[in-house]
This record gives sequence, C-alpha cells and structure tokens, in this order.
Amino acid sequence: MTLEKRCVVLGVTGGIAAYKAAEITSRLKKLGTDVRIIMTKHACEFITPLTLETLSANPVVCDTFERARTWEVEHIALAQRADLFLIAPATANIMAKMAAGLADDMLSTTVLATRAPVLLAPAMNTAMWENAVTQENRRTLERRGAHFVGPDEGRLACGAMGKGHIASVDSIVETACELLCPRRDFEGRRVLVTAGPTREPLDPVRYLTNRSSGKMGYAIAEAAALRGARVTLLTGPVHLTPPAGVNVLHFETTEELLSLAKIHAPAQDVVIQSAAPADYRAAEIAPQKIKKADGGALTLRLAENPDVAKALGEAKRPGQCFVGFAAETNDVEENAQKKLEKKHLDLIVANDVTKPGAGFDVDTNIVTLITPDDVRPLPLLSKREVADRILDRVLELF
Ligand code: PMT
Repeated sequence: MTLEKRCVVLGVTGGIAAYKAAEITSRLKKLGTDVRIIMTKHACEFITPLTLETLSANPVVCDTFERARTWEVEHIALAQRADLFLIAPATANIMAKMAAGLADDMLSTTVLATRAPVLLAPAMNTAMWENAVTQENRRTLERRGAHFVGPDEGRLACGAMGKGHIASVDSIVETACELLCPRRDFEGRRVLVTAGPTREPLDPVRYLTNRSSGKMGYAIAEAAALRGARVTLLTGPVHLTPPAGVNVLHFETTEELLSLAKIHAPAQDVVIQSAAPADYRAAEIAPQKIKKADGGALTLRLAENPDVAKALGEAKRPGQCFVGFAAETNDVEENAQKKLEKKHLDLIVANDVTKPGAGFDVDTNIVTLITPDDVRPLPLLSKREVADRILDRVLELF
C-alpha cells in the first residue's frame, strides 16, 4: 500500500476515548500519511491540542472563539485536501449533526464540505448508542455512504459493560488504510453472497425462523465490493443497510432463496453462502390464523426444505469457487468436513455458535477455514476481518 502523503483529516470529538486519537495519529504518521487534525471544543477538554500537534507534526485546528474567523478559509482547504475523513472518537452529537447536515463548528462544517470517504469510529454510552435516534442517524449516514468501524462491546467509562466502546486502534487504522488504498484484488470477479435467515410461514401471522442477523454476510458483501468485485447479495429479512454499490435481492423462504440462487449462481466466479436457510417448512401453511388448542398440545407437521448449497454445488462449473458456512454446536470440525463434501464446496467456514463472541447476531466471529486438504483456525475477529480472511483464502484457491 502506498499511503505516503495521502491526507487523513482526523476529527476528534469530546469523549473519554479522545485520548485514542493520539495513538491513531501516531500509527497513521508511521504509515507515511499526512494527518490533519480538527478538534471540537469539547475534545480539547479531554486531550490537549499540543499532544496531537506534536504527534501529527501539523497545526491542529480547534474550535476556539479566536479561531472562528478563519473557518471559511480553513474548512474548505481541509475538506478538499482530505483523501479520507476519519472521526475518532465520534460522539452521538457529531453523528446527529452530520445526519441533519448541521455545520455549526469547524468539524461539522468541514465534514459537510468534503467529498472524501468518511469513516466514523463511534464511542459512547450503551444506551446512547442503542437509542433509536442514534441508530436512525447511523442508518442515514450509512445510506449516504459513510463507513463505520465499531463500536465494540466492553467496559465503558461509566463503569457499565456493553456496546459503545471505541473500536481497537488496529481496526480503525486497518479500515482507514483500506479506504485510503483499497485492495482491488477482486476486480473483474463476480461474487454472490447469501445472508440472513429465512422465514417459513405457518399461517398468515406466524413463521419459523432463526437467530441470523445477516451481519456476517453483509460484511462479506462489503469487503468483496471494496476489493473491486461485482457483488450480488441475496438477503433474507434483516435490519441492516446493504453496502454501497451492491446488487441486492430479497428472499423470504428457503425455496425463494433457491430460485434466486439458481438464476444468479451460474454467472458467478465465487458463491459465498453465509445465509441460514431453514431446513424445514410447514408441510401445509394454514390459510387462517391457527387457533389456540385449549389445554392441548399443538402438533406441527414439517416438510424438508431443499438444500440450496447442495443443489448449487451439483451444478458447479469448473473454475467457480463455492464457499459454505457451517453453524455447529458440537463436533464442529467433523460436521463441517461432512458438509464440505456433501455440498461440493471448495471451502467451508466452520463456526462454533456456542462460543461467546461467535456466530449469530454478534459483531465478531471465531471460525475455522476448512478446505479438502487444509484446516486453518482463526482467532476472535470482527466479522469484517473474518470476511477479508475468507476472501484472501478464496484468492489462494483460485
Ligand atoms: O447472520 P449472523 O447473525 O451474522 O450470523 C452468522 C451465521 C452464524 C448465520 C453464519 O456465520 C453461518 O454460520 N451461516 C450458516 C448457517 C447455516 O445454515 O448453517 P448450516 O450448517 O445449517 O448450513 C451449512 C451450509 O448450507 C450453509 O452455507 C447454509 O447457507 C447452507 N444451507 C443450509 C440449509 C439449507 N436448507 N440450504 C443451504 O444451502
């Protein structure tokens, strides 16, 4: 990666995690980037501009009354100079201002004026992060193309455990580097990703489903798109914003997934199946809401669903690379090996979904990458990092 002289404008907002800006600046400087820093007034209460000035070897722009007159000149210059606009830590306040298009200080004004990719590393109290308005702001920013790294789960400054901890400096710097200088090693390749759960209706109001949030699949789609692939994402019902530049198609049931996958898989170079399709559906869907059987048990008759991965694997062309997942609770490696063979996969990503930090609806995963002649366990990583490791392995298989 040639990061030499690429300009990162680092916005620092007022939270206890502001001290992390020092390490981020130092790491970015060591990579050769030109770091230009804007601090909000509140950030200056947590860390001194002098620290960041010394580490960045550049003057730091602060929101002080004396400097207010120079905004007009400085904010446009910095906005134009940025190859990446990173805000770390990003408070709920800056997210709200950005979502609303407010420009009432140097940082909000400059970020509004930039055309560079924007990366936010949020850090705040769990309740603030989970508040519907913050989540709405996050979705709005994502829809407009902003990238997020974290927040992670951890012990917060207020003493509580929960989500809101700033992402690790490693993740922030790694994501910044990817945005500054994306690897284009999937350029020209077509990648199909399946993500999320299925819903198998029982009657007009009820369905069978599972705990898949789609996070793993969406992370793979985002990573592949960023690395230059033409990505088609087949998604079940989830609450996530699809990554920018990806062709998104929706399914509800396993049979719908199979129909979509059969249409799109033949044209792909890579098919990565991280969806969690139900193995069974109702043998008959009741036309009316099933009534409570007073006092008695209710017996549901289930019919077997098609195995999508197996059906696709049987029709695989030479030169295509098919990847499956195995969500296991016991004998993980052994069961995954069986699925690798049965579904004609080139690679299976085995996850023990009973491990803390792995599997359904968390931001991290612990997986083992298994091919017919190789087993590679990976440590606990963010799903985004797991996505890149899977793609790296796919390239090796090519
Ligand atoms: O979505 P998240 O909350 O981020 O969670 C991620 C995950 C746990 C869902 C994901 O990492 C994962 O493990 N996905 C596979 C879930 C699953 O269905 O596992 P399985 O072992 O039952 O299936 C093995 C493979 O066959 C999978 O690639 C699956 O997509 C596929 N399959 C399964 C059943 C079926 N009827 N048809 C299929 O194609």
